[in-house]
Amino acid sequence: MRKTHLPAVPALLAVCAASAALAMPGRAAADDDRPLQARAWAAACASCHGFGGQPPAGSPIPPLAGRPAARIASLMADFKAGRRDGTVMPQIAKGYSEAQIAAIAAWFAAARPQGD
Ligand code: HEC
Repeated sequence: MRKTHLPAVPALLAVCAASAALAMPGRAAADDDRPLQARAWAAACASCHGFGGQPPAGSPIPPLAGRPAARIASLMADFKAGRRDGTVMPQIAKGYSEAQIAAIAAWFAAARPQGD
């Protein structure tokens, strides 16, 4: 059996940890006077809309980052009331109160779209 190059493993782990830190919403931590509660609620949207509200390039899911809070909130209200069709958003929107939607919308409005 060949000798494995064990010293490379900690170095690799360090690289992984560093890139994970970059990929995580560290940006949000940097510009954050936004309430932690809103951030926690907004995290529920991140699996589809991307961390910080910016979906990966080529994703069909619309971005939320940097869009006007009033626009995000009214889209959510429309999904919730059945005025706007969608595959998943009508159900998701129904799970949030008006106050929660306002807080989440404000959080995404304050998020900078990636690349800025
Ligand atoms: C399971 C994936 C998923 C999650 C989780 C999710 N969304 Fe969406 N969202 C979508 C998809 C897909 C659309 C397109 C409409 C549809 O098919 O429902 C969308 C559309 C939207 C739109 C309309 C944007 C536009 O320009 O038309 C808003 C606003 C929105 N989502 C907000 C949210 C918020 C806020 C959350 C978290 C509370 C959230 N979404 C969580 C998948 C998701």
